[in-house]
Amino acid sequence: TNYFKIAVLPGDGVGPEVTDESVKILKTIGSLFNYNFDFKYGIIGAEAIFQTGNPLPEDTLELCKHSDAVLFGAIGDPSFDNNPDAKVRPEQGLLRLRKELGLFANIRPLKTYSSLVSKSPLKKEIIEGTDIQIYRELISGIYFGEKYTEEDGSYAYDVCRYSREDIVQIAHLAFQDAQKRRKKVTLIDKANVLDTSRLWRKVCKEIAKEYPDVALDFMFVDNAAMQLILNPKQFDVILTENMFGDIISDEASVIGGSIGLLPSASIGDSNALFEPIHGSYPQAKGKGIANPIASILSAAMMLDHLRLEDAARKLRESVEHAIENKYVTADLNSEQSYSTSEVGDFIVDYIKYSEKTYYN
Ligand code: IPM
Ligand code: MN
Repeated sequence: TNYFKIAVLPGDGVGPEVTDESVKILKTIGSLFNYNFDFKYGIIGAEAIFQTGNPLPEDTLELCKHSDAVLFGAIGDPSFDNNPDAKVRPEQGLLRLRKELGLFANIRPLKTYSSLVSKSPLKKEIIEGTDIQIYRELISGIYFGEKYTEEDGSYAYDVCRYSREDIVQIAHLAFQDAQKRRKKVTLIDKANVLDTSRLWRKVCKEIAKEYPDVALDFMFVDNAAMQLILNPKQFDVILTENMFGDIISDEASVIGGSIGLLPSASIGDSNALFEPIHGSYPQAKGKGIANPIASILSAAMMLDHLRLEDAARKLRESVEHAIENKYVTADLNSEQSYSTSEVGDFIVDYIKYSEKTYYN
């Protein structure tokens, strides 16, 4: 079939602007490649709280459950960040959505583009040629363990818990991906201190036996934070638990030159969600300055997931073309920059033009 139901959740801050560009581009791809993408919109996050009081309304959840893929923008609003007493928070919408859809693996690819290596504050020799795939566990660990705050505010806790099953399912994906790449998995943990980390090591060592062509090594998260900046090329596939993955992936984004470039895919047994790794960037909301590339590359990951590999390849090629021609937003070129929608239009035109020349 060539029919795909896509749930679109633009969310907060710059989420709607960057998602608009992805939808625009997917429409172009749909008409050129003959795919029928049926976009159905839902609300989530702060926007949903303001409208309904609930950061993940039931309608939105149902829509996502019955879609072939979810295209997600961003979530978060400063009015909640600065209020520790807020009981309902935008982030709860995304966390619950991940949990309800069973999106256990969050995949965050990181590559350097040769025309952008100078944008990173890190030295060119260190970062050039970096190609890392981060597998972050997404629905367990400290994010989802028991939480408690004592009434009088005297103490609070968050429990970090992992089951063997939580680890097994994502570890297999990481090893399988490594087989197609440079055949190395690095498990990032804190096994010198945490029981959960020791469980991760034990389970991963067992699974590694099923992938004799893949080397498994281990690194403590504190050292990994340093190694990522000192020598990122040593990494191929990184496998890690939820919170370490959250932190490490923001750090890793510095290598690519801008967090505005990095996409992600969150995969479960029957659902999948695609979102930029950047947040809602509320200061930029409505200004047309947000980089749409992270969202657009998330859409490319979605095309791969839907097994529309030709379209995904074309989309990535068009993004590379925009970057090489410096048709980028201000985060990547302060001298001459284009708006969010100009970058999207450029990509649309490139896809149309290159497909036409290809077929004629
Ligand atoms: C991310 C974000 C989320 C997370 C927030 C918005 C809950 O930082 O996707 O990395 O911590 O997982
Ligand atoms: Mn994060």
